[in-house]
Amino acid sequence: MGAAFLTLGCLLFVVASVSAKTFELKDVNQLAQARKFKRIIIRHLHVPSGVTLDLTNLKEGTTVEFHGRITFGYKEWRGPLVKIGGKRLNIVGRKHARFDGEGHRYWKGGRNSRMVKPRFLEAIVDDSKISNLYFLNTPAMAFLCNWCHNTAISRITVDNKAAGDGRAGKAFNTDGISLGYCRNVQVRDSYVFNQDDCFVTGGGEDMLVENLTCEGGNGISVGSLGRGADVVKLTIRNSRVINSLSGINIKTEIGAVGLHRDVTFDNIELKQIHQYGISIHGNEGNGFPKAEPTYFVLDRYTFRNIRGNMAAPGGVNVWIWLHPNSAKNWRWENVNVVGGRGGMFRPPLSCKGIPGNVRIRCAER
Ligand SMILES: *[C@@H]1O[C@H](CO)[C@@H](O)[C@H](O)[C@H]1NC(C)=O
Repeated sequence: MGAAFLTLGCLLFVVASVSAKTFELKDVNQLAQARKFKRIIIRHLHVPSGVTLDLTNLKEGTTVEFHGRITFGYKEWRGPLVKIGGKRLNIVGRKHARFDGEGHRYWKGGRNSRMVKPRFLEAIVDDSKISNLYFLNTPAMAFLCNWCHNTAISRITVDNKAAGDGRAGKAFNTDGISLGYCRNVQVRDSYVFNQDDCFVTGGGEDMLVENLTCEGGNGISVGSLGRGADVVKLTIRNSRVINSLSGINIKTEIGAVGLHRDVTFDNIELKQIHQYGISIHGNEGNGFPKAEPTYFVLDRYTFRNIRGNMAAPGGVNVWIWLHPNSAKNWRWENVNVVGGRGGMFRPPLSCKGIPGNVRIRCAER
């Protein structure tokens, strides 16, 4: 008898102490309350239109778990639909959890639509882990980590395949994974099916992308945020780009200020690329692709073990169009992209700005 009471007492105590630390969010109006807890569970939530699921200012060390389907009301606005901020966070999607953006509501306008579309999830975190988030049918950009430090991102899925079925239009402007002004951030084991950049960074330091699969979009991009933002020490390896407009796309805008240094692409497979297998150009913006590129330093670029094929001879395997002094200290080893003869370009593409010490088969006919 006494023992039974004791057991029951312990059980109650255990249940009480778990629930005291965990908050299950049922409604976005409970966010202020949820922030007091170190474990927040979000299950089957509907977020009303024009509202951000605001998970910023979380307690240091908080775990946020997503379960089930999370949906969002329709509004033409900039978003983000979800925002996460804090230190030592563990952000995790459980099995079958989905952020469902119901993007077909936004895609109908096409590429040049003036419709304002919400970014999906923006994280600004330090010393954190983000894993297993699944974005279905994103209205626009899917996952952004800005000013993130010492953070491991893994198993992100961006699934905009519904765009391919001809009913919903095309999911334009749906950048997959974007890092801005990050330091010491890794992106691993992720998959993106979209209609814009698969991965993109325009500024940051010490970034690693590993085992990324890109499909249907514009490939892996390194751009510039301009205004002196640099990309320093970026490695992209053991990854693949399939059935996409470009494979690898290095693009800096006319007049952009900044530099890229220590950028490495290693062991990348390109399959069925439509336009540019590898494009490296300093004339993004108005007048692309013919405009004169402006000076922007691309220092210590390494391309190693890059292989692949173009979907049709209309595409170009490799195209480089840079200011004559931009490229410095390049290594170009075992790069073999084949099948393109540039037939879709009038006048035919030519190359410039290739550093004298490397041999690159560029704009082959
Ligand atoms: C690569 O990432 C995919 C997810 O896109 C995952 O299923 C696979 O297990 C990963 N491969 C390795 C070797 O970790």
